[in-house]
Amino acid sequence: MDKKVKIFSTPYELAENFARELVSMIDESAKNNKPFTVALSGGSTPEILFTLLSDNYAKSVPWQYVQIFWGDERCVPPENIESNFGMTKRKLLGNIEIPSQNIHRIRGEDDPEKEASRYPEEISLYTRTRDGVPLFDLVLLGLGEDGHTASIFPGHLELLDSEKICEVAFHPVTLQKRITLTGRVINNADNVAFLVTGKKKEVVVEKILKNNPTSLNFPASYIVPAYGRLSWFLDKDAGKLL
Ligand code: 6PG
Repeated sequence: MDKKVKIFSTPYELAENFARELVSMIDESAKNNKPFTVALSGGSTPEILFTLLSDNYAKSVPWQYVQIFWGDERCVPPENIESNFGMTKRKLLGNIEIPSQNIHRIRGEDDPEKEASRYPEEISLYTRTRDGVPLFDLVLLGLGEDGHTASIFPGHLELLDSEKICEVAFHPVTLQKRITLTGRVINNADNVAFLVTGKKKEVVVEKILKNNPTSLNFPASYIVPAYGRLSWFLDKDAGKLL
């Protein structure tokens, strides 16, 4: 497993650098006339990236080659402010030329158990597989202060090794239901990138990247792609203790 950690002065500089890498990967897929499959994350950090992509790359990227999925979704309707799809639509999808059939949202408004069974069928239609497991070209992840990633929260490490592609999860505080990719799918990706910013994340980042024993409770610690590249994009606040 190829792992790299990059620390940037500001969240914007982080987003600029990641955007360049993302666009380069999409261009490579387009050059080979292959789709680029990506599972996006929710939360506030990706908003900076999505806005930058809208502002600087709306016209220059062959978005028609990009198949967009989500690594997790809150079980709310798409128009709900909590929706990861809704945020992505506002910050990115509504500003780029991408065919609607390339956008594969998790239907947060539907019954969670049914959606956790339906979404894998949609994933399987558009992704390659490796050892029978869907293979994303890229999985974008955030990191919670509690060490969660996607919607795999502490105390639910079983979601990392689940045989399923998606599982129903819930936020430990709000008990909000979520649909999440399982760790097995995330770790099967060719590229996994954590985008982490802010001082609040400095301790959890240090514990994970320095293999502190307490990080064994953190689901993000178990994101170790078996074949792919793992990247940690940090701003200087999140990476302060490294
Ligand atoms: C979500 C995300 C979640 C997020 C982390 C970090 O649906 O909320 O998938 O895993 O990435 O909570 O969120 P911030 O980037 O907002 O700190």
